[in-house]
Amino acid sequence: MQTAKQMIEFSIKSGHPEKQRTGCMILGVYNNRRLSPSAMVIDEVMDGYLSKVLRRGDLEGKMGQHLLLSNPEGISAERVLLLGCGRERELGDKNYHKLWQHCIKTLNNLGVTEATSYLPQLNVTGRSVYWRIRHAIEAVEQQRYRFNQLKTEKDKSQNKRLLRKITLMVNSRKELDDAEQASLHGQAIAQGVKFTRDLANLPPNICTPSYLASQGKQLCMLHENLSCAVLDEADMEELGMGALLGVARGSREPAKLISLHYQGGDKSEKPVVLVGKGVTFDAGGISLKPGAAMDEMKYDMCGAASVFGTLATIAQMRLPINLVGLMPCTENLPDGNALKPSDILTSLSGKTIEILNTDAEGRLVLCDALTYSAKYEPAVVIDIATLTGACVIALGKVAHGLFSNHSPLVSDLLAAGQQSADRAWEMPLWDDYQELLDSPFADMTNVGGRPAGSISAACFLSRFTKDYQWAHLDIAGTAWVSGSPKKKGATGRPVALLTQYLLNRLEKQQNTNNA
Ligand code: BES
Ligand code: MN
Ligand code: ZN
Repeated sequence: MQTAKQMIEFSIKSGHPEKQRTGCMILGVYNNRRLSPSAMVIDEVMDGYLSKVLRRGDLEGKMGQHLLLSNPEGISAERVLLLGCGRERELGDKNYHKLWQHCIKTLNNLGVTEATSYLPQLNVTGRSVYWRIRHAIEAVEQQRYRFNQLKTEKDKSQNKRLLRKITLMVNSRKELDDAEQASLHGQAIAQGVKFTRDLANLPPNICTPSYLASQGKQLCMLHENLSCAVLDEADMEELGMGALLGVARGSREPAKLISLHYQGGDKSEKPVVLVGKGVTFDAGGISLKPGAAMDEMKYDMCGAASVFGTLATIAQMRLPINLVGLMPCTENLPDGNALKPSDILTSLSGKTIEILNTDAEGRLVLCDALTYSAKYEPAVVIDIATLTGACVIALGKVAHGLFSNHSPLVSDLLAAGQQSADRAWEMPLWDDYQELLDSPFADMTNVGGRPAGSISAACFLSRFTKDYQWAHLDIAGTAWVSGSPKKKGATGRPVALLTQYLLNRLEKQQNTNNA
């Protein structure tokens, strides 16, 4: 289980750069050897030493460049690390993240254990000090992340001295309050993201539905306002969750419906419900998937993992809101007892579903969880799922696919994605697509064919979400990165987006209460 101790220590300060005692002072240099404002102050104290070094041509200032100066004279820092920031005008969200990544890589290569950074003082287009501090922390922790709990010989980098503490400098005392708030939020998000990545990266022989249930119980022990309940197959049988149980039939691991309840607000206040797809391995069932890259289907529980991470984040922040996480968890495997194409299931809603492809199992486990979520009288329901390969084709690994039956919710989620650098993009959910699911024998089929594959999947879900405001995030392209061993792994998305949405929602509420 994740603990804050594994993270580095962050502190926030304002003050004169020349007086900072530190192992390494980090300063930005823009393109064409232009010093950032804090670098200019240091340059003056050092009698123009920095400008002299730059004039010599040792650092152009391009993004990705750096220059280390040891034992600088006239200041209380052991080293100065100059980092190229590129053109000032082009320093937006993405380059700011890149800059921090490069910074942490460099510090770790050097074996610096403590540093003071002036990067948060840089101008990032349209971004406040809150944003710059929060995203600095998120980027640092993102970069430091390793998943080696199952390696007997740890990475070589683990034996080296690693960064333990970093001080983030802001421009003035006036900014300290916002910056401190950002620091708390950034650390809570980073910790939630790490939790999500760890769960997702675990292999499916360890991370089973029962394992996830035990993680839910453990998480609740850490937070007073958090409680956990787990429905087993007998409970689901009694309730009539025929769709979820249909998928579970092919697996020897018992299915679990995990619910996490965070109560930070008034009891009477309606909760936001997050529903996360928790298929701990998706082999496709009888409609077996091809072998190539099938290992990546351990990531088919990333929706559930992101719900875990978001609840952990919100509980850590102690936000005064009510939040429910609901995670239908099972494997999807072929077996003598597995679902067959042409089987017809009766879902919890009473609606019947003709199975045409057992590999379209995500919508089956989700539809019962979505029906069940009505019992919480939700203010809003958002489901998060690695639902369709078609979404990867449509949006790649950049944006989550966003579908909703309520347009203000779309705007809120799009905006939250922009703010948190964890973006979603809206896809249509028009009635015209619904006929793709027509069945001659049941209320609907579970697949709508290859064209518009992610839309027909969302249409399927929309039939179970008519009673409340609902959005669906298809994270099939964004939940993990495939490729080389160095890059491969879970991303922890969309924990940041969901947290931002909840922060914004709270702020809006508090504003209307005060008005
Ligand atoms: N978990 C998969 C979707 C998926 C595939 C996510 C590849 C990420 C990468 C889902 O259960 C699935 O198999 N969907 C099918 C649906 C089809 C049978 C209608 C798909 O996308 O191929
Ligand atoms: Mn599948
Ligand atoms: Zn799946």
